[in-house]
Amino acid sequence: MQIITTQRALIEQIIKIKSEDKTIGFVPTMGALHEGHISLMKKCVAENDVAVASIFVNPTQFNNTDDLARYPRTLENDCELLEKVGVNIVFAPEGSEIYSKNDLKTPFEFDFRGLDKVMEGIFRPNHFNGVVQIVSKLFALVQPNRAYFGEKDFQQLAIIRLMTKTLNFPVEIVGCPIVREESGLALSSRNALLSETERQIAAHIHAVLAESKTFFNETSVAELKNCAIAAIEKKEPLKVEYFEIIDGNSLQNINDWRSSDYVVGCITVHCGKVRLIDNICYKK
Ligand code: PAF
Repeated sequence: MQIITTQRALIEQIIKIKSEDKTIGFVPTMGALHEGHISLMKKCVAENDVAVASIFVNPTQFNNTDDLARYPRTLENDCELLEKVGVNIVFAPEGSEIYSKNDLKTPFEFDFRGLDKVMEGIFRPNHFNGVVQIVSKLFALVQPNRAYFGEKDFQQLAIIRLMTKTLNFPVEIVGCPIVREESGLALSSRNALLSETERQIAAHIHAVLAESKTFFNETSVAELKNCAIAAIEKKEPLKVEYFEIIDGNSLQNINDWRSSDYVVGCITVHCGKVRLIDNICYKK
């Protein structure tokens, strides 16, 4: 496995791979890898001639400097995991290799067609500008045939699909199912910041959502939302930031289960200082 830190060295490798007519699969990450990432990597390795992963804690998608500082960084361990699953190239650049000072001064502009005006977009202003900024740069450098993203970040996946289409990247976007701990807690790099007790309590988020799926069409959307929020907040220190029931394509709220064939519940919950996101598909 090659570990590459400069754009120049990466481009040289990509030119070589393309000249050999090989397909490239790509998994962008911010590191602190867990089984969720590893499942993306395995799929990427199985479906492409060459598997490339990036590890870059992207400063432009953090709207809170504390959150950026606290984000776990475990490069050595990550590289060991990637080598084991058969990744061929890891791109792990420094910030200055990716961004000029100008890039960092103003938010990256992109027409999100409203997909950034809901859920995460409300609570994390400019977060998706940063995501699109980095993913578009990485796509331009890596030139993958396929790129793999987890469905846990449901809104991010929808925005990446829009970006890929709008900017005409010839990349197939592959969405991959959420991987969970045995307790049901969705795997996330942020779980490393939870204490053992918080980790057990956080499992309650998925338990409530899974339970809500068993009776969703016997109740109204509004009632289900209220019940789920109340049930989650019964367990301290869980505090729901939002729980939206949306159409899975437009990401707009629905008020009636019959108004869409693709209904997803997206939630963000604070467990102490840690912000956790999850979702559940009610209907597809
Ligand atoms: O999902 C993530 O880890 C990040 O948002 C991504 C896609 C790697 C961009 O920094």
